[in-house]
Amino acid sequence: MQKQSPTAAGKTSYDLADADLFWRALPVTPGMTVLDLGCGVGRYAIPLSAKVGPAGAVIAVDLWAEGVARLRETLAASGIRNVETHVAEARALPLAQGTVDLCLMATVLHDFAADGGDDAVITEVCRTLKPEGILAVVEFIKQEGPPGPPERVRLSPAEVGAKLLPFGLTPSGAVVGLGAHLYYEPFRRLRGAAST
Ligand SMILES: C[S@@+](CC[C@H](N)C(=O)[O-])C[C@H]1O[C@@H](n2cnc3c(N)ncnc32)[C@H](O)[C@@H]1O
Repeated sequence: MQKQSPTAAGKTSYDLADADLFWRALPVTPGMTVLDLGCGVGRYAIPLSAKVGPAGAVIAVDLWAEGVARLRETLAASGIRNVETHVAEARALPLAQGTVDLCLMATVLHDFAADGGDDAVITEVCRTLKPEGILAVVEFIKQEGPPGPPERVRLSPAEVGAKLLPFGLTPSGAVVGLGAHLYYEPFRRLRGAAST
């Protein structure tokens, strides 16, 4: 039987985002540990590696083995050494508790929500975030595509907020439009919120 790829394997939203607006809004600084959850071939992970610099680290995770293999090739070819890669399930991250400053979920939350696995993924994200760590969400504007998934599976900022708030993840900034297709919103994990 043919092995099934994870939902949306092979897709990236990076080229749909206004890069200037995104990088201005993302609170990434040198020395941070950043988790790129659902990294695909690493379109976000590669520029993130430059933003965190040699004192920081990017942990790139995807269940899609072929995408992670392509990212590893890119890293080797470009001599990038501060990106750690994992073929792993988002619901069972191979990371220690409280180690991540910033988790980026770039156009992946709606897929987890459509599969019914979003609560388990958010629980894992909260476990791995440091106290007051940030979950940075990029999602498709709720409108009919293409590009992007059908409108019925897209999540509005209100729907994202309603999913994250019960986990102690609260909006920590404004919703930022990233052009015609995407928006960005950061959520901060409240100090003392349950980690599992
Ligand atoms: C729409 S793509 C986004 C990729 C990347 N964030 C980007 O925009 O360049 C969604 C990614 O989530 C990954 N994915 C889907 N289900 C997953 C799961 N259960 N665990 C880990 N990754 C998963 C897919 O393989 C795919 O690479």
